Amino acid sequence: MSRCKVRAHANIALSKYWGKSDLALNLPAVPSISMTLSGLVTETEVRFDPSLRADAVFLDGRPASASETRRVVSMLDQVRAAAKHEQRAEVRSGNRFPTAAGLASSASGFAALAAAATRAAGLEWDDRRVSALARQASASAARSIFGGFVELPAGKPGQAKLAARQLHAEDHWDLRIVVAETAKGPKKVGSTEGMERSRVTSPYYEAWVAAAPGLSQKVKRGLEKRDLPLLGAAMEQSTLAFHACAMASAPGILYFQPATLAALATVRDLREQRGLEVFATMDAGPHVKALCHAKDAARVRRALGRTEGVLATGVSAPGPGVEILKWD
Ligand code: DP6
Repeated sequence: MSRCKVRAHANIALSKYWGKSDLALNLPAVPSISMTLSGLVTETEVRFDPSLRADAVFLDGRPASASETRRVVSMLDQVRAAAKHEQRAEVRSGNRFPTAAGLASSASGFAALAAAATRAAGLEWDDRRVSALARQASASAARSIFGGFVELPAGKPGQAKLAARQLHAEDHWDLRIVVAETAKGPKKVGSTEGMERSRVTSPYYEAWVAAAPGLSQKVKRGLEKRDLPLLGAAMEQSTLAFHACAMASAPGILYFQPATLAALATVRDLREQRGLEVFATMDAGPHVKALCHAKDAARVRRALGRTEGVLATGVSAPGPGVEILKWD
């Protein structure tokens, strides 16, 4: 057994995943496409050690909580079963999210854990197989295994091997994501819980699942043709459609804050009044992320920074897939 340290980057969905077709295998009910982000990084080291009696997990230097540890141990158990050994592991994971807060770390976190744990256990898996493992912990993590622009197809129930794949490398298109942080603290309803509540209770869930593949196709075509208005319009619709589905759940899931609406208005104003090609997206939280050309990023960032209620802003370029930092 050995140890391995890797770096993984967060990603932002351009067409959104919301809803599962198989809860046990964590399979998405809709396809999603993302851009891996340069600035937002998790570094994770996994060391299997025969002298350990239990897995020990540290996040940003502190011992992980019981629920955090459970998700990590569940992935380590799968790795141990595949590697046919019983050794416990020490896991040390840290985030470097300097450019913008307000972006979930579960995607980069579980991508890094899957890549480090499989290698530390001596498994020689290709990226697709590692992506399928990461997906079982958090579907968006499957996308962070790859750099640039990445697709995770919808999964059919039972499709245990479903993995993400790279559509285009990071140098395909010089885009930027400008993040506007609009609130502090953890979100009130996590995405796993929120999408399950939507599936079970929202009258708009079926409509969302029916519409999502077409929106994903448009995002894909926009990427191929480097056509930002085509991509951006589909991305905004994907965001608003999944939020509408979430809002109509019982009880309703409302991620919007006043500053969220103000930031969305800023993006629309830059586009409609100033002629910039800039489009907004959101995840399961109140923050707004604006997609634009690299040459316009500073202007978009200034405008969002001046928007009432916006607490901080940051800019990310297309980033690389998982990088191995140490392996011995
Ligand atoms: C709204 O990947 O966090 O950000 O698979 O349950 O861990 P689990 O969910 P997660 O969901 C992300 C949802 C989203 C859209 C997206 O990233 O595609």
